[in-house]
Amino acid sequence: MTTPTHDRPHDLDARALRDAFGTYPSGVVAVAGRVQGRLVGIAASSFTSVSIDPPLLSVSVATSSNTWPALREAGQIGVSVLADHHDALCRQLAGPADERFDDLAVHTTCGGAVLLDEAVAQFTCTVHDEIEAGDHLVVLLAIEDLHVEGHRQPLVFHRSGFQRLHRDDLDPTRLGGRINGEPVPSSDDDGSGADSREDREGREVDAA
Ligand SMILES: Cc1cc2nc3c(=O)[nH]c(=O)nc-3n(C[C@H](O)[C@H](O)[C@H](O)COP(=O)(O)O)c2cc1C
Repeated sequence: MTTPTHDRPHDLDARALRDAFGTYPSGVVAVAGRVQGRLVGIAASSFTSVSIDPPLLSVSVATSSNTWPALREAGQIGVSVLADHHDALCRQLAGPADERFDDLAVHTTCGGAVLLDEAVAQFTCTVHDEIEAGDHLVVLLAIEDLHVEGHRQPLVFHRSGFQRLHRDDLDPTRLGGRINGEPVPSSDDDGSGADSREDREGREVDAA
């Protein structure tokens, strides 16, 4: 049995916990649908990939959300991964509900999923399950369709601020060239999956 070395959960300071969670960088998604002719949605940084078979993703939605009770009634729900120029758009999607979709370039599927036109990736989903978890609901969404724009870069949310990816110092050879058995793409990867790379001194290395 593991001996606790820290305070019990109810002794944790909420601000300290938020700050600790904020050290973990994430992307941000728009979770949106059309319900009775109205576009509803939120920005969410809690997107997580969950399962390949069946295809599932999750977002955690605050139980205080006014939008989720309406959004969950949409036949389909759109999940769009925000691109690195979407910082203002993200704030808009988290702002006053009746202004969230003003001047946004979106399209709606026949089933009611609302997707951002300039997203890095778009998932068309249905609600698979909702799990109560403290002050949030973990919403499992079944993925019915997806589209990826490989040339776009994601918005990064970290310590309550927005950032962009910087790949200059990444060294994929330190990972043996693979994560979960899949080749690790380098910044200059041609997409071929070829395993020949150069080390920091420019020598060619075998990353397989
Ligand atoms: C960067 C960012 C990330 C957010 N992530 C989440 C999230 O993961 N879950 C959530 O419930 N709200 C999240 N929010 C807040 C929602 O976007 C929204 O403001 C909140 O749900 C209140 O609106 P509502 O009452 O209409 O739901 C986030 C806001 C921002 C700016």
